[in-house]
Amino acid sequence: MQPSELAIGNEIKRLVHLIKHQNENYFQKGISEISDYEYDQLLKRLSLLEEAYPHLKQSHSPTEALGERPIPGFSLVYHQAPMLSLAKTYLEEEIAQFVTRVNKILPGSSIDFLCEPKIDGMALSIVYEQGKLVRVVTRGDGEKGDDITRNAIKCLPFPKTIEDFSYQSFEVRGEACMPKAVFEALNNVRKEQGEALWANPRNITAGTLKTLDIDLVKGRSLAFYGYSFYSQAHPCATQQEGLALLSKLGFATAPFYKLCSNTTEIMAYIHYWGQHKDELPFGIDGIVIKVNDLTQQTAIGMTSTSPRWAIAYKYQPDMAHSILEKVTFQVGRTGVVTPIAHFQPMALAGTMVRRASLYNADALAKKDLYVGDTIFIEKGGGIIPKVVGVDVTRRVKTSMPIAFAQICPACHTVLQREEGTVAYYCPNKQQCLPQLKGALLHFAHRKAMDIDSLGPKTVEALCKAKLVTTAVDLYTLRYEEMRSLEGFQQVMIQKLLSNIKSSKSKSFDKVVFALGIQYVGETVAKKLALYFKSMARLQRVTITELLQLPDVGEKIAQSIMDYLQDPFQQAILVGLQKAGLQFAMQEELVLHSKLPLASKKFVITGIFQQFTRQELIKYIEQAGGTLLSSISDKVDYLVVGSKAGSSKLAKAKTLAIPILGENDIARLVL
Ligand code: IVH
Repeated sequence: MQPSELAIGNEIKRLVHLIKHQNENYFQKGISEISDYEYDQLLKRLSLLEEAYPHLKQSHSPTEALGERPIPGFSLVYHQAPMLSLAKTYLEEEIAQFVTRVNKILPGSSIDFLCEPKIDGMALSIVYEQGKLVRVVTRGDGEKGDDITRNAIKCLPFPKTIEDFSYQSFEVRGEACMPKAVFEALNNVRKEQGEALWANPRNITAGTLKTLDIDLVKGRSLAFYGYSFYSQAHPCATQQEGLALLSKLGFATAPFYKLCSNTTEIMAYIHYWGQHKDELPFGIDGIVIKVNDLTQQTAIGMTSTSPRWAIAYKYQPDMAHSILEKVTFQVGRTGVVTPIAHFQPMALAGTMVRRASLYNADALAKKDLYVGDTIFIEKGGGIIPKVVGVDVTRRVKTSMPIAFAQICPACHTVLQREEGTVAYYCPNKQQCLPQLKGALLHFAHRKAMDIDSLGPKTVEALCKAKLVTTAVDLYTLRYEEMRSLEGFQQVMIQKLLSNIKSSKSKSFDKVVFALGIQYVGETVAKKLALYFKSMARLQRVTITELLQLPDVGEKIAQSIMDYLQDPFQQAILVGLQKAGLQFAMQEELVLHSKLPLASKKFVITGIFQQFTRQELIKYIEQAGGTLLSSISDKVDYLVVGSKAGSSKLAKAKTLAIPILGENDIARLVL
């Protein structure tokens, strides 16, 4: 191999690694460390290198995969025809090249291009049979996606039945998105409640449609805009006809589209919406240009991942530059330290920005920032600014590199880093003020102890006056000692004390959530409470037992064990119990034991006919049963569908665990 090829090979490896890491972040964890623009540039560079050096291309390159990976908990469904991706470009000349290419393939024909907005959301396929909505599926890897019908029905406005008898069985494809107004309203509520703000409507659209926690979906109204109609019985002749039909059947379609016949007209449309996109009720990140006539589309054909008859022009994100003044370090409620870039204030997409999170030590190191650097900041569709790059050519020679903090900015304790994680944290839970404040705010959260009047200012004052050092102290607060604090009026103190008192009746699952165990969110807390039923039992848990529970992976299990073994937390638990908090499931416990599947443990495997996987889980849980993720002697029944995993079946047989089909479950419940 030539030395230059060695370098190219290494670059390809690095790019593959980086892109896979970003895919994982985005599709599995719902976070993005880099902007869409940066991501597209990485992918483009990789495609270029792979084309020029095909022998260096790695197998399973991210340029071949379409992205989303299935989420455990939803059933996988194959699409009737693959859901393709679009070739995309940020360059005007590539639009001209696209038009020339298409004209060359069909010489002498007159070609209309339908231009429409590229809505920044999530692609969905909606299938109707005999006039009824039967399935809503995500694009997934293009071939098969997650069946998210249940979530989609809750928050999307498409017709559930079709009145028009001529159109009964068909598929609609389109884009689900959260309208800007809904996104802003929900974020305002989050802000008031001191919760972290959502970064952009697209992530939250995906998060909403793919959550297993159906309660989360409530109140999150999404929009859906159809862009394709497929029916064997009634094929459409053009894209335009498809859009008209969709409106007729009761689907929203993007409110404007244009038929263009040449590059000049297409570019005028692109420029117009580039200037006016902020006025639209939903986010768009570009324009899609499609050959209008479906017979012409077929003649033009496609590559393995995208049609040759369409292209997406993507707008450059809202980006501006500023000067980095400093990086500070912020301590969160669990002690994790986040670097924050402070830069000269500047206007970006309509608001003034001056700070941006740099996420963690690795992300900071990758950026390689120096004080005084010229940095690029982007808001790309969302509201949270992001540092997306540095202009190293403008770096002042004498400036200093920025290193991650070694000691806690709040309490000066030496920071620690857990092996294998990107996070540094301050271990001083007991005296580090931001951790204490964060823990108290979490404890008081609406979904935890619901101590409504314990907001950030009140917490700050109570901590400063040293009246409260842990949640336990809340329960011994007295009227007189708060009276002298600034801003503590009589009515407010009474309300606070009354809120604290009523928090004692909050159910055990809320108490488990309120403890603020790292990675234990509301859903896991509920599962722990339901499964163990009392704090005493939870305190005796082993890590193997925890790992048996669905939703509990190694990270969560270890965090729960660390919490329970920590003497500081143990003292808090004793204090909270003495204060009279609910340390066991009460009525639920009694009620639960009367349910038909109470105390029975199930494992399910395979695909079911009458239930989606989620529906079956809910059915079992509502009848009092508990789901476990793997076969052991604790399991009472294995429920088997088609395409079941053979290892689970074999193990169940060796342990003589009864094996049920989905119909047997109903018999058990009756
Ligand atoms: S057409 C083969 N039209 O962009 C045709 N896609 O990478 C494929 N999108 O997954 C889709 N607005 O999520 C089409 N008006 C539009 C669109 C659109 C947004 C998204 C869709 C798709 C991605 C293509």
